[in-house]
Amino acid sequence: MQSATQQKLVETLIDEGCLVDRNVIKELQHSDVKTIQQLSVKPMVVDTEFLSQLRQQSHNHDTAEQKQQPVRVRETDHSVATSVEIQEYRSKEEKKSADDFAQYFQDRYERMKHILRQRQDLKEAVSLTHMPDNQKEDVAIIAMVSEKTKTRSGKYMLQMEDPTGMTKALVDEENGEKIALDEVIGIVGQTGNDIVFANEILWPDIPFQGEKATTTDDVYAAFFADTHFGSIYQLTKKVRKCVEWLQSNDPIAQRIGYLFVSGDVVDGVGKYPGQEQTLSLTDIYQQYSAFEEFINAVPENIQIIVAPGDHDAVRMGEPQPPIPKEFVPDTHNLTNVHYTSNPAQVKIHVHDNPVRVLQYHGYSYHRHIDPIPSLRKKAQEKHTEAMKDLLVRRHLAPTYGTIQMYPEQQDHLLIEQIPDIFAMGHLHAADYGVYKGISMVCSSTFQGETPFIERMGNVIDPGKLVLLNLRTRTPATKLL
Ligand SMILES: [Fe+2]
Ligand SMILES: [Fe+2]
Repeated sequence: MQSATQQKLVETLIDEGCLVDRNVIKELQHSDVKTIQQLSVKPMVVDTEFLSQLRQQSHNHDTAEQKQQPVRVRETDHSVATSVEIQEYRSKEEKKSADDFAQYFQDRYERMKHILRQRQDLKEAVSLTHMPDNQKEDVAIIAMVSEKTKTRSGKYMLQMEDPTGMTKALVDEENGEKIALDEVIGIVGQTGNDIVFANEILWPDIPFQGEKATTTDDVYAAFFADTHFGSIYQLTKKVRKCVEWLQSNDPIAQRIGYLFVSGDVVDGVGKYPGQEQTLSLTDIYQQYSAFEEFINAVPENIQIIVAPGDHDAVRMGEPQPPIPKEFVPDTHNLTNVHYTSNPAQVKIHVHDNPVRVLQYHGYSYHRHIDPIPSLRKKAQEKHTEAMKDLLVRRHLAPTYGTIQMYPEQQDHLLIEQIPDIFAMGHLHAADYGVYKGISMVCSSTFQGETPFIERMGNVIDPGKLVLLNLRTRTPATKLL
């Protein structure tokens, strides 16, 4: 049980933009909170490790200036060398046919099968046409879930497909509830009459990884999304504060090498009925021009990586192509500005120790979590729980219909290469988490609460820049 004082301290830290680990609540002291309040950049997570570092530093250096640096920062040269390598999706817009969808799912199946086969229990997985005829035989299969229904006993009956055939599978309630339609999973169980009785469900997941990819330089990546230029709800003061801080002499601002903008750069035009009443700029070109003004004000030694989102002037079908030059003529050719597809894999700091970032706007989020009550509950409390779930499934939008799909020869939403950082926007709220060494960043927004967001009951958290020290992988947050 928390005392009223502790509760107050926690609330103050939350107001400062920090996530408070429940293990530190009891030991939090007024002096800790006061020191944190004085910091120009706040810790993203206040946990035992951070608290002991903070107290150590306060003890060692008792000057106001030194207190402002709980995250270790090298104060030497201010020009951080940066480098970027973009691996993105590019293709021609063309009319798609039913065959394209078949090819898309075939590609998803084959590549997911390859990932799943690395799992010990699935090394001997058989294709559905080679399922043993006898009953009660041990079997392992890798297949796509094409139907899922709850039985009267509470268990789930699945229709499973692979390129060779189909079978039914009976799965217990706990696993069955978690299974998403159209995803490729492994099932280990026993055969029945045209059915597999599942003992175990295996998702592709992220294998155990050794050392985290970290840079030797003390360089930071900053993350935000959903700038929504053109909206009357845009918090323009915060946009200005963001630019001012990035241009400032703050030692952390000076160490920022990379800025990720994870989509919904502008509010767009004609995105929903009545949108024109919510726009301060009703011309899409003017909206992008306001965004470019912002980008141009960011110091040019910062590499800016911009993905589109559902509000941008590109097709809704994912993968989305980069924002075309036509809309961003003034910044398109700048060497430090990179307009990428959504999603895109970006390697940063390649001249040192490269760090691989998967940037995705996050449109699939709500429709993915909605049919899975246990996930919905976890994700509503902590958004990065949904990001972790997508990493476990190794797919950014497993179920057909959670996004508008643009079927390519390859499924570009499949997470084949394991990222070091997974960055997402769309939720208008900041969060940070780690899963198997992957830093998960959910970015905040420059847009205040809109009537639509209020109607949906979504809790937003605007005006926070999430910062990640790439050498230590320590997250921090800058309140704007
Ligand atoms: Fe947005
Ligand atoms: Fe969005």
